[in-house]
Amino acid sequence: MKIAKKIAIALLVILVAMQFYRPEKNTASGDYITAFKADTKPDAQITQILENACYDCHSDHTEYPWYNNIAPVSYWIDHHVEEGKEHLDFSDWENYSLKKKDHKMDELIEEVEEGEMPLNEYTWTHGDARLTEEQKHLLMEWAKKVREGYQATGELE
Ligand code: HEC
Repeated sequence: MKIAKKIAIALLVILVAMQFYRPEKNTASGDYITAFKADTKPDAQITQILENACYDCHSDHTEYPWYNNIAPVSYWIDHHVEEGKEHLDFSDWENYSLKKKDHKMDELIEEVEEGEMPLNEYTWTHGDARLTEEQKHLLMEWAKKVREGYQATGELE
């Protein structure tokens, strides 16, 4: 019992100490998505889906839940955002080459079709990010259209 108690106290101390380190927040202000919107022209419905389900991890602006104030949850969320943006960052769209944009849109169709995105860990706590079949369909159709636009420039290959 004594050892268990010591371990419990040690864990508590670690947990308290962890609260002092806060990962930097991903909260750009202003219109962090201008270039992406101008390029891909999402209508109101698509905009809403992206806002509810994707931008938190794939743009410069995350709407943090209250529990982000608690470590280690904050570390975990920070990791998701960092990794998400590394793979796909809608706020960095203007720096993507045409080929990269086209590839990311292709990936988007695949991830949405397979139900891989948004991540399950996210939809557990964000009910409005759970995509209906119709929303998935809309997203994929929009992405396909964007890709057709890229193809039509004749600059892809
Ligand atoms: C909770 C954070 C989170 C949310 C919300 C989220 N993603 Fe992701 N996404 C990630 C992470 C982390 C990765 C990289 C690892 C992986 O593929 O699982 C990723 C990878 C991707 C990729 C693959 C990019 C590549 O080329 O490797 C695409 C496409 C994507 N996400 C699209 C979306 C779309 C579309 C939505 C909204 C419908 C969305 N994601 C919502 C975290 C998220």
